Amino acid sequence: MTDEKNSPFEPAWGIAGYLEVKNNRLHINDVDAVALAEEYDTPLFVVSAPRIRHNIAQLLEAARHHPKLKLCYASKANNLLGVLSVVREAGIDVEVNSGGELFKAIKAGFRPEQIEMNGISKSEREIAEAIDAGIYTINLDSPFELELVEQVAARLQKRANVTVRLVAGVGTRSHAALQTALYTSKFGVSPEQAREMMLRAVRNPELVNLAGLHIHVGSQTPDPEPYVQAFDAMWEQLLWLHKETGHKLQHINIGGGIPVNYLRDRTQANEISEDERVMLGANLTAGEMLESAIDFIRASAQKAGAEDLLSDLEIVMEPGRAVIADAVTILTGVRNVKHRPETGEDWVLTDSGYNLMLSMVMYHWYYHAIDATRAGESHRHPYRMAGPLCDGGDVYFDLHGDGHLPDSRLLPERIQVGEIIAMLNTGAYTMSQMTAYNGRIFPAAVLLEEDGSVKLVRRRDSYEDLVYNEII
Ligand SMILES: Cc1ncc(COP(=O)(O)O)c(C=O)c1O
Repeated sequence: MTDEKNSPFEPAWGIAGYLEVKNNRLHINDVDAVALAEEYDTPLFVVSAPRIRHNIAQLLEAARHHPKLKLCYASKANNLLGVLSVVREAGIDVEVNSGGELFKAIKAGFRPEQIEMNGISKSEREIAEAIDAGIYTINLDSPFELELVEQVAARLQKRANVTVRLVAGVGTRSHAALQTALYTSKFGVSPEQAREMMLRAVRNPELVNLAGLHIHVGSQTPDPEPYVQAFDAMWEQLLWLHKETGHKLQHINIGGGIPVNYLRDRTQANEISEDERVMLGANLTAGEMLESAIDFIRASAQKAGAEDLLSDLEIVMEPGRAVIADAVTILTGVRNVKHRPETGEDWVLTDSGYNLMLSMVMYHWYYHAIDATRAGESHRHPYRMAGPLCDGGDVYFDLHGDGHLPDSRLLPERIQVGEIIAMLNTGAYTMSQMTAYNGRIFPAAVLLEEDGSVKLVRRRDSYEDLVYNEII
């Protein structure tokens, strides 16, 4: 557990120097959130560069358990160029999942050897772009993809670095759709197939350099055990390959999934089910995860007399959420309030719904809400909260009442239209998944710096952007 401590007078969601209450208003990196909303309008994504750097520094602490550690930020979590640039300047590398993300990574200044590519349905064009650029590695998702890479490499007369993505029957305590290393999941290949692919790859050294193995157990993984199982599965393959062929893999990639504690403020934690609470309130750090895994493998390496294979091995991690989730706050405006006499409920209608926070409806993801305009006041009044979309499911609660989300949100009494609500921890899988449903244009984003400077890193779209590529 590495969460920063607050003084007893700060709210539980506060983080000293980052999320604070001043003059009754939320301040982010010492910048008045309400003033930001007035200047840039809402919805607004507020990105904190110091918080991204803080998160990366925390992740890099894992290197004390294995110095050859390569962090590749999973850009799917948030691929805003402004974010990618801060990540690059913080000194880590990047993971991309498509030709589009490769394009953005290069545009943000990442060098090819800093980029690795995942993707379960890569097109020939995407593979060609990756090989042509000469990236660190392409993670292969099937035997077919290995053949395709060989063909493209032969055509381009360039050698491709490749990694085999495995599934190994590893489950986690995360959401079912966020588990990605089960035999029933759509990713990767089984250990048996991986062996065949590796043998084929080492027989073709002029076209492919078999660089490593990869398993991503899933996102928001609360425990170290699945990582240990994944390491074990890859290590076993690595030893087997070395024994059979003498080929030494350069890296093992343990994927992403380091969780973020979405329940720093646990005021409403008891209103969600135990499973969700464990997952959303997880505190596992990259260091704790790697320590467990390395201890396990070290014992196996000693037994097999393969200590040098371990010490020479680069361990790749692909954190997304842990870098960006708590570094972004969505500021959303209250556009409507109403009371329903039949149920006695007060409603707050905001200008941000699942068009910006898709996980809220897909996975019933909990994002803590606070009133930025009156952040210092007690948040005890229950409101049914909902977004602006013409869809009854666009609500901040669990419509089916299955205990996935609190039925209401606690905010100050008598909320007025025009007040600003801050949705905390909304950096991961929000902007990168947003939609223009109902003709709602994409919001602006600002980047805050340590010195209090505010930089616009994404202009708000205009109505014209809604029809930019349409032809009458
Ligand atoms: C292959 C792969 N690596 C890394 C990640 C990043 O995961 P997270 O954001 O949970 O760290 C994902 C996302 O699910 C992924 O699919």
